[in-house]
Amino acid sequence: MSPFSSVSNETQSRRTTFSKFIIEEEARTGSDPSLTALLNDVQTACKFIALAVSRGALHSTAGIGTDVNVQGETQKPLDVIANNIMLDECARGGTLCGMVSEELPEPSPIPESYRHGRYLLVFDPLDGSSNLDVNVTVGTIFSVLLAGEGVTEPEAADFLQPGNRQIAAGFALYGPSSMIVLTLGHGVHGFTLDREIGAYTLTHPDMKIPTSTREFAINASNERFWEPPVRHYVDECVRGKTGPRGEDFNMRWVASMVAEVYRILVRGGLFMYPRDTKDPGKPGRLRLLYEASPMAMIVEQAGGLATTGRERLLDVEPTSLHQRVPVILGSSEEVERLTKYHAAYDRGEDLEFESPLFNVRSMFRSTAGS
Ligand code: AHG
Ligand code: MN
Ligand code: MN
Repeated sequence: MSPFSSVSNETQSRRTTFSKFIIEEEARTGSDPSLTALLNDVQTACKFIALAVSRGALHSTAGIGTDVNVQGETQKPLDVIANNIMLDECARGGTLCGMVSEELPEPSPIPESYRHGRYLLVFDPLDGSSNLDVNVTVGTIFSVLLAGEGVTEPEAADFLQPGNRQIAAGFALYGPSSMIVLTLGHGVHGFTLDREIGAYTLTHPDMKIPTSTREFAINASNERFWEPPVRHYVDECVRGKTGPRGEDFNMRWVASMVAEVYRILVRGGLFMYPRDTKDPGKPGRLRLLYEASPMAMIVEQAGGLATTGRERLLDVEPTSLHQRVPVILGSSEEVERLTKYHAAYDRGEDLEFESPLFNVRSMFRSTAGS
């Protein structure tokens, strides 16, 4: 037994690998074998990306050309490497008829020489990539949709499906350990990459988000751009025991949505990248198709809630491939509370509150000193 192994070989052989899990799910639910094959390709891609990310500065980036992507963000070499791995690995399996990636302006077609299938794969190849240089957890987010009847060469419009039509969603984490979190619409399951046998292994079956929490995550540097309901909510949390909530809250901000959502799956919490006025052309920071929708499906499948503040995220009808959306997700009691604050604000109810933090006394009078 390796000095790094915590269990005997006998126990290891009885473990459920990701491959075994998706095959058993197919048998249990009668799902399409092609979906199993696609998820198998996704896990292989994630292993390659995990390896590239874990090598850090040792990984060769020779010949990798970076650009400003369609979001107007400067790509890192690993954004491009991860994108190419996903495209190459998943195009060849005969399960897809098209892909959409954060890093590509238009859908990527499946080359003529490969068999075509009925699924669409939408992904963020590296989420949180601003964290790469500082060696903090990043990940890959993916979403599986069905192409419409008879569609063999999908156009952008074929990908514009609300999250409630996702067949599967998941994310890989490249952190202290590498993981895949997956939902096929029957709960959420976490798999840890066992590098000794080269397999993701089921370590976190049926993950459930605690309904209550005393921890929230938001980029507080945007505070001056927030809407009053979000300011009201955060103000109450920050005031802790002596404020209206009567309890102390904790705050986290990793700047990698994958890491935030994983933390919430493990111990609960509230994650917010809400609507703000920073750039009037963008109703939020995160992208609907390959960040918000897959994470919303995972969070709901784990018993949490996911909303824009005004609408269930899974019901938002996309209008463009890279559309942004406000995101509030996590433990149900806190998401419900913040949703109520939005509704009260939209009804014009002037919820009085005193805020030493923001120096406002109501949800409407938001200027200092009023
Ligand atoms: P990406 O690296 O794919 O562009 O996504 C980063 C996202 C998300 O992971 C994170 O929650 C957020 O952007 C971080 O935003 P700030 O830079 O405002 O912290
Ligand atoms: Mn991202
Ligand atoms: Mn990204």
